[in-house]
Amino acid sequence: MSFHAVVPYGTPEHHRSQRAVLDEGTPFAYTPENRAKLEEICRRYPPEQRRSAVLAALYLVQEQQGYITAGAARHVAEVIGLTAAEVDDVVSYYVMFFRQPTGKYVLQVCRTLSCALNGAERVVDAIQDTLGIKVGETDPSGMFTLLEFECLGACDRAPVVMVNNEHWHERQTPETVTQLIDGLRAKGLAALTGCHLKVEK
Ligand code: FES
Repeated sequence: MSFHAVVPYGTPEHHRSQRAVLDEGTPFAYTPENRAKLEEICRRYPPEQRRSAVLAALYLVQEQQGYITAGAARHVAEVIGLTAAEVDDVVSYYVMFFRQPTGKYVLQVCRTLSCALNGAERVVDAIQDTLGIKVGETDPSGMFTLLEFECLGACDRAPVVMVNNEHWHERQTPETVTQLIDGLRAKGLAALTGCHLKVEK
């Protein structure tokens, strides 16, 4: 399964807009529970500023259906008072929003300088070899998606691998990341226990 392309630094493509057209997807509406959660969040802002809840609104979409579709972006726009283009801008800007279906576990390897100097590329290679996929793809079991991201500010603990936008695994090596994948496969979320602030040493 192909994902949004990761373009090498320094190429002309890297500096071009990476905006990707969202899939239309199936018609989207929040579940009553998620709509209630969103309204609760919107109440933290003055009524004329409910648009400020756009990130929370998109997280709820992602929680509900796994990724952001064009239909969902329109629904979000309607609910919080933005245009669909404005919501689309937010989805395009923030890497934590997925624009394609993903596996149950999204493995994101930092590719910024400190991580790169400390072996992030070898970590990516190990993941690719273990799962038989390239960056931007989901493995045939549909369980893992591999992506890269930019610095999370844990540069002194490089290289960093993040799972599902919330669990950080620091000082990774080809061996530890392979164990991480094996653990996720065998134990699911239990393999991520022990991380409070969701940081795995
Ligand atoms: S360079 Fe990877 S966390 Fe900063």
